Amino acid sequence: MKKLKVGIIGTGGISQSHTEGYKEIPELCEVVACCDIDEEKVKKYAARYGIPRWYTDCREMMAKEELDCVSVCTWNSAHKECTIVALDGGANVICEKPMAMNAQEAKEMNEAAARNGKLLQVGFVRRFGQDADTVLDFAKAGMIGDVYYAKAQYLRRSGCPGGWFKDKRFSGGGPLIDLGVHVIDLARYLAGNPKPVSVFGCTYDNLGPNRANGGQSAWSVADLDEHPYNVEDFVSALIRFDNGFTLQLEASFNLNVPEDHGEVDIFGTKAGIKIEDDVEIYTDFAGKFVNMSPTGKTGFDFRKAFNAEMAGFINASLGNTPCKATGEDGEELMKIIDAIYESAEKGISVNIQ
Ligand SMILES: NC(=O)c1ccc[n+]([C@@H]2O[C@H](COP(=O)([O-])OP(=O)(O)OC[C@H]3O[C@@H](n4cnc5c(N)ncnc54)[C@H](O)[C@@H]3O)[C@@H](O)[C@H]2O)c1
Repeated sequence: MKKLKVGIIGTGGISQSHTEGYKEIPELCEVVACCDIDEEKVKKYAARYGIPRWYTDCREMMAKEELDCVSVCTWNSAHKECTIVALDGGANVICEKPMAMNAQEAKEMNEAAARNGKLLQVGFVRRFGQDADTVLDFAKAGMIGDVYYAKAQYLRRSGCPGGWFKDKRFSGGGPLIDLGVHVIDLARYLAGNPKPVSVFGCTYDNLGPNRANGGQSAWSVADLDEHPYNVEDFVSALIRFDNGFTLQLEASFNLNVPEDHGEVDIFGTKAGIKIEDDVEIYTDFAGKFVNMSPTGKTGFDFRKAFNAEMAGFINASLGNTPCKATGEDGEELMKIIDAIYESAEKGISVNIQ
């Protein structure tokens, strides 16, 4: 069987999970080239992972290599350009989340995939977690019924990742576009990917800049001259979908909560499901309320999920399995994010076309 040739664009933190995921399936693919605008960084990366060739310009990489697949792991503001260069260069692409800075960019990326007849997957890694698989297994078995409401929280007490993440020119926004995107997508995926129709959202920036040098975060936010903290530090939103499903979201870099907390709750006509450390189910049976926990590990495992995501991308590129997180899903998410920022700015509910 043909082994797919893979390239990596952006050799920072998350790209390691991509490369390590590809290395788990050596029978299907090999990473043959990597690229970063930072020469020192890309050289070290190539040496560390035994990647034969490195570049500082993704156009040059696409021109010189014959790549079947590319991971785009740059900061958000470079996603569109690097993804389109890779698609036009003849590769299938997995682009990290958020897909782009806004829905217009996401649309242009999907158009590039369509005109080249290539696959564009979005890095919605939560779709590949064993918690998501467990919930979908229960849904398919008819245990949850119709899902009509969900709550999604991704709260950090003092957890701005620092660097470009807090600088709107590079990130496009704060915890909404960085953290919220994961849990909005997970809830939408578990509800059957309905279309968003309207949102009401509020964003705040009360704490972030004030905590910039004094927070207890593991990340440094001291580089304020290079990257100002000019994104929101908290977002709250209500998102309505075309089938009547509504989703309540809260996400923060900085919020006065007792501790960091992530949770997605799905409410159906037959059962409710809590996804936190593990999956729990709340229902009723024979006139009694019943709480259930599946045996074994059902919580999100970062490493396993990334390995499954890379295997899913490679198998979708080979035509073995359908893509689980499409460019269209990414564009729908960007429409939600754009609408929440617009709603927050104008103080009104915003419709999504
Ligand atoms: N799925 C997840 O759980 C997850 C987790 C962390 C980050 N991410 C996403 O991954 C992306 C990267 O985040 P990170 O934490 O690895 O950031 P990072 O800053 O560690 O790495 C980004 C790299 O991209 C490089 N770069 C920027 N523009 C480039 C270009 N035009 N060509 C080549 N290289 C370029 C930078 O030099 C840098 O090395 C972001 O979009 C982020 O939202 C996803």
